Amino acid sequence: MLFKQQALLRQKLFVLGSLAIGSLLYLVARVGSLDRLQPLCPIDGRFGPRSQDDIPLRALQFKRGLLHEFRKGNATKEQIRLHNLVQQLPKAIIIGVRKGGTRALLEMLNLHPAVVKASQEIHFFDNDENYAKGIEWYRKKMPFSYPHQITIEKSPAYFITEEVPERIYKMNSSIKLLIIVREPTTRAISDYTQVLEGKERKNKTYYKFEKLAIDPNTCEVNTKYKAVRTSIYTKHLERWLKYFPIEQFHIVDGDRLITEPLPELQLVEKFLNLPPRISQYNLYFNATRGFYCLRFNVVFNKCLAGSKGRIHPEVDTSVITKLRKFFHPFNQKFYQITGRTFNWP
Ligand code: A3P
Repeated sequence: MLFKQQALLRQKLFVLGSLAIGSLLYLVARVGSLDRLQPLCPIDGRFGPRSQDDIPLRALQFKRGLLHEFRKGNATKEQIRLHNLVQQLPKAIIIGVRKGGTRALLEMLNLHPAVVKASQEIHFFDNDENYAKGIEWYRKKMPFSYPHQITIEKSPAYFITEEVPERIYKMNSSIKLLIIVREPTTRAISDYTQVLEGKERKNKTYYKFEKLAIDPNTCEVNTKYKAVRTSIYTKHLERWLKYFPIEQFHIVDGDRLITEPLPELQLVEKFLNLPPRISQYNLYFNATRGFYCLRFNVVFNKCLAGSKGRIHPEVDTSVITKLRKFFHPFNQKFYQITGRTFNWP
């Protein structure tokens, strides 16, 4: 009897021991694979000393977590000092174009360990009231970051606002400027769709796109309609070129960012002199959303809000043709100036 009990106990101990060793082996393998998911290579010298580059992935994620807490205002002064965090003026700005994919571009660039985004549109340079508050007000609106990181903000109103180029030039004449564009007619319809949704939310009625885009008196394209004017990219860009050389701009293909984001992001990394860190691992297609979503690590991923990727209303084909014909010469000029050609009709 005693012998039987001892044998049973030994059997139980053996099973428990095997389970413990198995779990330990699984954990070791899993932690190892976490590091392999996104190997960290040295960051370009511009972004700080080598010691910063050697932060292992998990430590980096921890630091990003900390940054997130600080951004929410949960940091004490002591923590900020201890971690050497600063609020830096942006080294690059996404200046437009509205409905071009500015939010997607900012969020996707934020996947890069050397980039920190300003979450809100600051509207410092286009809003006189904000601008009057001064550059320190603007800097205080920036997120906390490590000194080797770069801050990026996006305010698409900058692209079309008269005073903005000069104001940005006064802050930093060598700043890098990102412009994300889409096929101009599609962008105009997207712009209209956003305004329409706002009106519907307030139970207001609104004109049809056709009525706004075409002047009923002349039957020509209505250049007074803001959604049309914004899509004349070359007109706006020419104003910016009075202050900045074309080399300081990078044009992002917003239509390609929707269907194939990685190569577009890699071009931006190059333009910003960032080492290539965003990989296919960071971007996955979500069939329900119909868009690429973002994967920061094994536990944290997100898609853009539902307000990005609205269904556009049907627009009369003759109006679309008219608009495309109208934009054509402006597009040609835009290709010529920027050196980037698109397959727009
Ligand atoms: P639509 O709503 O017309 O589809 P912005 O951020 O400048 O307002 O641009 C909005 C546009 O970003 C959307 O226009 C959408 O097509 C585009 N976009 C690009 N990549 C996206 C993504 N991954 N998720 C959602 N929208 C994306």
